[in-house]
Amino acid sequence: MILYFTGTGNSRDIATRLSEALADNDIVELSGSLLRDKELKAAQPCRAVVWVFPVYSWGVPPVVTDFIKDVRLTGTLAAAHHLVATCGDDAGLTARQWRRLIRRRGWTSASASTVIMPNTYTLMKGFDVDPDELADEKLMASRPRVAEIARRIKDNAVDDDVTKGRFAWFKSNIIYPWFKRFAMSPKPFHATDSCTGCGLCARRCPLGNITMNDDRRPCWGNDCALCLRCYHTCPTAAVQYGKATRGKGRFLNKN
Ligand SMILES: Cc1cc2nc3c(=O)[nH]c(=O)nc-3n(C[C@H](O)[C@H](O)[C@H](O)COP(=O)(O)O)c2cc1C
Ligand code: SF4
Ligand code: SF4
Repeated sequence: MILYFTGTGNSRDIATRLSEALADNDIVELSGSLLRDKELKAAQPCRAVVWVFPVYSWGVPPVVTDFIKDVRLTGTLAAAHHLVATCGDDAGLTARQWRRLIRRRGWTSASASTVIMPNTYTLMKGFDVDPDELADEKLMASRPRVAEIARRIKDNAVDDDVTKGRFAWFKSNIIYPWFKRFAMSPKPFHATDSCTGCGLCARRCPLGNITMNDDRRPCWGNDCALCLRCYHTCPTAAVQYGKATRGKGRFLNKN
């Protein structure tokens, strides 16, 4: 079984290709009512549960942490759990965090791998999407990488093959908790005058956190994963995050 969470499609792209390479059709997106109810049954008895999600501030996205902690997962009793994390540059100690969560559930954590994908984080000074050529290069390089990871999963690998980057301990143990506490608020989200009221951001939000008001303007609630799907999806680039996103690029994985 392949379980994935995605904002802009990179992790869906990887999960889909893994599903083909592993001939595993039981592929499930963590979104909507599944994230709320946290009740999941494998479609068929499975030997491997593969978790695919983006790295957020050198750690596991809080929405995924909550899901792993509380999900009632059935039909996977003898399964080994594998991680495939997508990141723009480096993952810090995301794999260690994930292993801890999996073991706390009494499950077996096996391999952990990362795939470098186009960057999606734009909400702070100095952070923007990649230039098109770099994004294309990363997407090309992800193809053989997925094949390699599929082989590792088939071979029941149990080790890490991750791009941790420099200062991994500091990034995951100091910046990650700070980020969770102070940099994940949805409050700065707003729509500018270029909003046409199409409602796409509301329909696409994986948490159902956006409602359209009587004037056909999107309103953001508090249940936000900061996945940035609303920001990157808007066809008129009307979604902004305070002043931080002014003039920044947008990216959606076309695969
Ligand atoms: C809130 C947030 C935090 C991020 N933090 C990191 C990070 O610490 N390191 C990194 O390499 N990429 C980081 N990224 C980039 C994403 O991990 C990367 O682009 C990923 O492939 C996006 O996957 P998705 O399209 O499935 O959402 C971050 C993206 C977001 C939205
Ligand atoms: S997707 Fe953009 S244009 Fe459409 S409702 Fe949302 S903010 Fe407005
Ligand atoms: S409101 Fe936007 S950033 Fe927050 S979960 Fe929904 S789509 Fe993602």
